Formats: sequence, structure tokens, C-alpha cells
Amino acid sequence: MKTILLNEETMQKGVEIIKQGGVVAIPTETVYGLSANALNPQAIKSIFQAKGRPMDNPLIVHVANFDDIKKLVLEIPNDAYILAKKFWPGPLTIIMKKSDIIPNEVSGGLNTVAIRIPKHPLARKFISECGLPLAAPSANISGKPSPTTANHVLNDLNGVIPAILDGGACTVGLESTVITLTTEKPTILRPGGITFEQIKEVLEDVKIDSAVLCKLEDDKKAISPGMKYKHYSPNAKVVIVNSSDTEYSKYVNNFHGDNVGAICYDEDVNTIMVKTYPIGRKKDEESHAKNLFARLREIDEDKIEKVFARCPSKEGIGLALYNRLIRAAGFEVIDIA
Ligand code: TXA
Ligand code: MG
Repeated sequence: MKTILLNEETMQKGVEIIKQGGVVAIPTETVYGLSANALNPQAIKSIFQAKGRPMDNPLIVHVANFDDIKKLVLEIPNDAYILAKKFWPGPLTIIMKKSDIIPNEVSGGLNTVAIRIPKHPLARKFISECGLPLAAPSANISGKPSPTTANHVLNDLNGVIPAILDGGACTVGLESTVITLTTEKPTILRPGGITFEQIKEVLEDVKIDSAVLCKLEDDKKAISPGMKYKHYSPNAKVVIVNSSDTEYSKYVNNFHGDNVGAICYDEDVNTIMVKTYPIGRKKDEESHAKNLFARLREIDEDKIEKVFARCPSKEGIGLALYNRLIRAAGFEVIDIA
């Protein structure tokens, strides 16, 4: 199969592919998604096949307008109105009880469905033109970092999918925040573009699921199936280093001469002797979020074997960064006092 690159002018070809039950990679403000008609089980199966994704890991359904949600869920809880008013369109995914029209292939056999209204103008235009709810996981091969450019998608899925809609580099760079409204209290299952602090301003009772920061025990069932899979992992071994600026450089420089890299801040570059993969100025966590996945991909292209990453703050968007990095690192953190 030849994979074609589409843009806003040629987008209609992608719309036709979706209407005929095919898959198209689309840009969103978070990461690129691999989309298909959420109401067509056969189309959904093609998504799982292309990505090599386990069938029990449910997909997010993307719609263009709030009204489109009504038929997808049993009821819209009051908290969903509150969240939608504040954060949609945007990088927030809300889990609600699903209606019968959502196929089991989308929900991974659960009785819930994850829904998001993305902000990216081209994504919204594409969904509107399709006139369908679009299920879309991140458009990477399962287990790889999510794609934040059309080229990343091409690197993973060239020849496997018919088309990629190029909408430029994603502005957020990490996936959406996933919150469920089907538990006793609203619970964040995956931190992302909308922060815990932002949500707490409108939903005081919100909590963070324990699997966000810790490894799930083997016998414990994840509320969000995605959390049990190894994620965001480059081929290189990732180690998080929790230390001061000087201790970080000192530690990393011990490995000078080996095939080692550093996921560091711009300010570190001049003090580090191994290959550097800077993610932005130290204080600019939004840039860190935007750049992390691209750097993880470069690390693989450079065939780096081990990479030392600076430890995110765990506050604001830093929590999402930490959540992704700790999984890439297989939960390995070195603390240097
Ligand atoms: O930003 C994003 O969310 C991107 C863009 C394309 O929208 N999508 C994305 O999808 O990251 P994906 O499939 O890579 O991650 C969705 C996560 C998975 O961890 C999945 O297990 C969880 O959401 N999820 C989906 N539906 C769920 C449900 N009904 N209950 C619990 N978790 C669910
Ligand atoms: Mg994903």
C-alpha cells in the first residue's frame, strides 16, 4: 500500500477513505491520531492491526461538537458539562457510560467510552466533513513514543495505512488528560495537556489514580487498560536522574565515551560531554512536553544505548512528563542527594 500525504486542500480524499471504512492519520493539538469511523467495527479492527495494539485497550472517540456526544453515551453527567465548558475543545478526554451504538471493539469490552473534542482546527474540520465520530489512538506503532509530526507517523506506518493528513507539529506534544466520571469521585487516569491543578479549580473532588505515578502491581486490574502496557519507550534504556544541575552533569559525564545520551535542559548543553537531546529552557515545561517524544525518536535514530533524563517537577504539565518518562524508564529513577 502506498501512503499518501494530504493537506487542507486535499483533505477530501481522507474523508472518502474514512467513509469507506478505512483509516487516516490526523493531526490534533496533542499528538497525531490514527482515525476511523467509531461506529464501524471492521474499520476499528484496521486501527488495531495497523498499530499492533492489544484489542483490550480501548480507543478515544473524537467529535467536533458537544451535541454529537449525546448519542454515544447513556447520560451526560453534570461534571461533564462543567469540564466541557472549561476545557473543550482541548486536550481533555472524558470517560462516561457508553450507549449501545459504541461497538465493543472501541471500548475494549468495557461499558464505558472515552470522548474528546480536539482543538486543532484541521482535526475539527476533518471530523465535521466526515460527519462521524472518529475513534483514534495515537498514530504510532504500539509501544513507541506518540507521533507529534506527520513525519513521525510516516516513519512508523509508511506502507501500512492509506493516508496521513499533515497539520504541522503538535503544539501540546503529550497526549490528552484522561478523566473518568464513572467512578465514585472523578479520577484522572492519565495526566496530560490539562493539568490536575486546572481541573481542581472546577471539580474540587477530583483525584489522581495511583497507577499514574507508580507501577501497577501484577495482580491489580487497571481502570485504564493502557496503563498496564509498556509505553513511550525508545530502544535505548532510559534512566531518570533526580538531582541538582551540577550533580546531573557530573553524573552523566561519567559515561563520556560510551554510546550514551542526555535528555536535558538547554542550559545543560554546554556542561555535558555525552550527546545531548535538549527539551527546552529549564523553567519552560510546556516546551519539555512539546519536545519529549520527538527527542525520544531521535535517540532511537542515533542508536543511543542509554539515556539519562532530567527529572520533571510532577506539578502542572510536569506530572504528565513524569508519567511518560517513568514508563519509558521502566520506573527507574536515580536519586542523587
Ligand atoms: O491526546 C490523545 O488522547 C490522543 C489523540 C489522538 O487524541 N489519543 C491517545 O489515544 O493518546 P491512545 O489510545 O494512545 O490512549 C488512550 C488511553 C489509553 O491509555 C486507554 O487505555 C485509555 O485512554 N482509555 C480509552 N478508553 C477508555 C475507557 N473507556 N476506560 C478507561 N480508559 C480508557
Ligand atoms: Mg497511545
